[in-house]
Amino acid sequence: CGIVGYIGFREAWPIVLKGLKRLEYRGYDSAGIALIDDQNLNIYKKAGKVKELEDFAAEKNLSGSIGMGHTRWATHGAPSDRNSHPHTSQDGQLSIIHNGIIENYATLKEELISRGHSFNSDTDTEVLIHLIEDIYKNNEVDLSEAVRLALKEVTGAYAIVVMDEKNPNQLIAARKGSPMVIGVGQGEYFIASDATPIVEYTKNVIYLNDNEIAFLKRDELEIKHLDNVVQTPYIQELELKLEMLEKGGYEHFMLKEIYEQPRSIRDCMRGRIYPEEGKVQLGGLKEFTDKLKNIDRIIIVACGTSWHAGLVGEYLIEEYARIPVEVEYASEFRYRNPIITEKDVVIAISQSGETADTMAAIEMAKEKGATIFGICNVVGASIPRITHAGVYTHAGPEIGVASTKAFTAQVTVLTLMAFYMAQQKGTITNSKLTELLTELDCIPDKIHAALQSNDIIKEVSAKIKDASNCLFLGRGSGFPVALEGALKLKEISYIHAEGYPAAEMKHGPIALIDEEMPVVFIATKNSSYEKVISNIQEVKARKGQVIAIVTEGDVEVKKMVDYCIEIPDASEAFLPLLATIPLQLLSYHIAVMRGCNVDQPRNLAKSVTVE
Ligand code: G6P
Repeated sequence: CGIVGYIGFREAWPIVLKGLKRLEYRGYDSAGIALIDDQNLNIYKKAGKVKELEDFAAEKNLSGSIGMGHTRWATHGAPSDRNSHPHTSQDGQLSIIHNGIIENYATLKEELISRGHSFNSDTDTEVLIHLIEDIYKNNEVDLSEAVRLALKEVTGAYAIVVMDEKNPNQLIAARKGSPMVIGVGQGEYFIASDATPIVEYTKNVIYLNDNEIAFLKRDELEIKHLDNVVQTPYIQELELKLEMLEKGGYEHFMLKEIYEQPRSIRDCMRGRIYPEEGKVQLGGLKEFTDKLKNIDRIIIVACGTSWHAGLVGEYLIEEYARIPVEVEYASEFRYRNPIITEKDVVIAISQSGETADTMAAIEMAKEKGATIFGICNVVGASIPRITHAGVYTHAGPEIGVASTKAFTAQVTVLTLMAFYMAQQKGTITNSKLTELLTELDCIPDKIHAALQSNDIIKEVSAKIKDASNCLFLGRGSGFPVALEGALKLKEISYIHAEGYPAAEMKHGPIALIDEEMPVVFIATKNSSYEKVISNIQEVKARKGQVIAIVTEGDVEVKKMVDYCIEIPDASEAFLPLLATIPLQLLSYHIAVMRGCNVDQPRNLAKSVTVE
């Protein structure tokens, strides 16, 4: 979910509304805004996108220089008007927006019901504002103290903002396990789940820490720890630029982000590779160079697309640094009793740096003594703050819910890490590293070249857009690429798709193949080329339609398949970076042709801050 708040001298409605649109990638099941106009609280909320809220509220009283808004990804309670935030207290005086989950809400709710409270929604959030109200009314404390005392009673994760109708000069915000940024203006403050709604008003921000509460008046800010100790706010300057958040002439953010990849990968490598010297430098891992020489094992934890990047990382680290690697879904890893020792290194990969399962996996591995490295895209997010060290991907903000440039940047960082570890351990010669880095330096240009196949990809998309199923096959590092290709297609076009190791096809998925079934092969010229050709023949023998991603100039595969998409030639190490590009474009065009909402696919959220 996404939250926005404003207190200052301007009209709050347009600021909060625009902020919600920027945060819509975090969830778009429903949206709501609360404003106080002259001691009158006005709340407007609606199931669906922020646009629907905007249309619904037009012509209504939208004035007030204090306000807050919420865009929701449903957890407790179905998406509906009544379950949308903001929620209010029993007497309607207090209102709240909330991101996260209150785990003990059922017990609290029962207790409050026995004390005479009644509820209008199925949400845990409404319980929290009633609890605050209960403490506020039954004890001689002010609202800020009531919020603090209530939060001490709840377990779970939250980022909240609370407003009081009778005090339009104060916003109260708090966080635990869910991100929150405060923008510091002159005579005004902004609150948001990330900096994107704030950047056009001020560059000065404070990242609230876990267990902190902020009390904001128009020209006064106080931050306290939940234990009542006053904290000194640390103001940071944002590097984010407004144009990074706009579509820049593209029809969708996803397309813009696909086309940004030559640049994002270049940014990701900047200052980190020295091809002439055959050297990789990763400032973030500098303090751990000795540790890297003696690691027993690496465990990569991640979710979704980031997990696919992890699988590519496994291939690269084992190949070059000769360290055993395991790749785990963070959500599974955290609930096992994994064997972890102090000699292990855990690499957590997360675009957003906020994914709840990945955070929990990190906490667990940390408790068991492992060293944790992070690979994140969002600077200052929660994960980079709890890891021991890390490397940012520097891909710039990714707005499309389906990850594209963040994935290739993660793969780039993992490539750099593999080379860096190999360099520290001496498992690679300087001349080999020089050769690989020289080639890596040209990858952004090759990605640019791969993007030139867009027209052909569009034609292929038109041919297969009506399929109900699709198979993606690859071998070696082409296998995670196949998994990612399948995930992209199902996420945005709702076509059922599966990624499989090409050789495993004969042990199951082959039963699905008929003339209706498009099968996408990663069939580039590398060590498994001949084997993949045999797999293609197995599909053709069963009348499947084959789309092959091939190396430029390929003749052999071309002869036997229905459609070919070329990518530039490259060493096996860099194949995932290049082969991913046409698959991104393929799913993009298919989704557009099927009339799907490419940037905001149904039911998904970009940043999943709940378990
Ligand atoms: C969500 C998104 C996916 C993403 C995954 C992990 O499910 O829809 O696109 O890959 O979370 O996100 P992270 O920010 O941790 O990389």
